[in-house]
Amino acid sequence: MSAPLWPATLHHLRRDSAEPERLARFYGELLGDAVEPLAAGEWLVRGPGRSMVVGRGAAGSVPWFALAMQGAEHLARYASALDARGVAREASPSPLFEAGAFAVADPDGRRLVFGLPRHAAAPAAGGPTARLQHFVCASVRVPEVLAFYRDSLGALESDRVLDGGDLAAVFLRSDPEHHSFAAFRAPESRADHHSYETGGWMDIRDWGDRMGALRIPLWWGPGRHGAGNNLFFMIEDPDGHKVEFSAEIERMAQDAAFRTWPHEQRTLNLWGSAWMRS
Ligand SMILES: [Fe+2]
Repeated sequence: MSAPLWPATLHHLRRDSAEPERLARFYGELLGDAVEPLAAGEWLVRGPGRSMVVGRGAAGSVPWFALAMQGAEHLARYASALDARGVAREASPSPLFEAGAFAVADPDGRRLVFGLPRHAAAPAAGGPTARLQHFVCASVRVPEVLAFYRDSLGALESDRVLDGGDLAAVFLRSDPEHHSFAAFRAPESRADHHSYETGGWMDIRDWGDRMGALRIPLWWGPGRHGAGNNLFFMIEDPDGHKVEFSAEIERMAQDAAFRTWPHEQRTLNLWGSAWMRS
C-alpha cells in the first residue's frame, strides 16, 4: 500500500529577513534568477526547478516550506489521510500554490504547505542545474519532530544519527531521493539550510566557480555526506542562513528500512571535518 504522501517534492520555501529585497536580490544574483515583487511586500525569486518567497521577518528564518503533490487527486487523498490521523490543517500561506493548498504546523511551529504549483516551471537557462531539493531544520525536540513527520505526515525515515541513545539527526524522504527534510539536534530550534541538487560533480565545479566569480567564499566543503552520500558544498546567505549545492544524492526504494549512523564527523562528511550542530 502506497504511503499517502508519496511522492511529494520540495517546491519552494519562504525565507524571512529584515531586508527582504536585499536578500531576494542576493539569491537572484547567486542563482541567475528572476526577482519580482509580490503583494504584501514579498519577493519572488524564480528559476528552473527552484522558487523562493522572501518576506519581512526574523533574519535567517524559514517560517514555512512547500511540497508539490502529483495532482488534485493526490492532494485530496493526502488531505483525507491527515484528517483521519487528526492532523489539523490550516490555510496555505503560499502565493505560489493553487487554491486548495493547505498547511500544517510541525512541533517547532514551522508550517509545511502541500499543494499544486500555480505557475509552470521556469524554462532551463543553459547553465548548470540546481533544483530545490531539501530543507533542513535544527531543533531542540528531534524525537518529536521525527514522530510528527513520520507518523503524522507519513514521511519515510531514511537514516538516523545516534549519540548513545539520543537522536542527533534524522533524515526523511517523501519521494525516492534520500531526504526532502531532515532535523539536527541543536541548542535552539531554527532553520538550518536548504539545498539545490545539481546534475553532477561537474556542476558542483561550475557552481563553485560561480561562487568564486561572485566572491562568495565556500563555508563548508566540498565533501561527501555519509548519510545521503551526496557531494556538497555550502555557502552562507547575507543573514547567515546556509545554502547547499549537492550532487549524487542517494535514491532509496519506498520500502527501504532506515539505517543508523554514529554521531561523529565522518557521518556528515566522509572526506573530512564536519559542521556539528550538537
Ligand atoms: Fe543538506
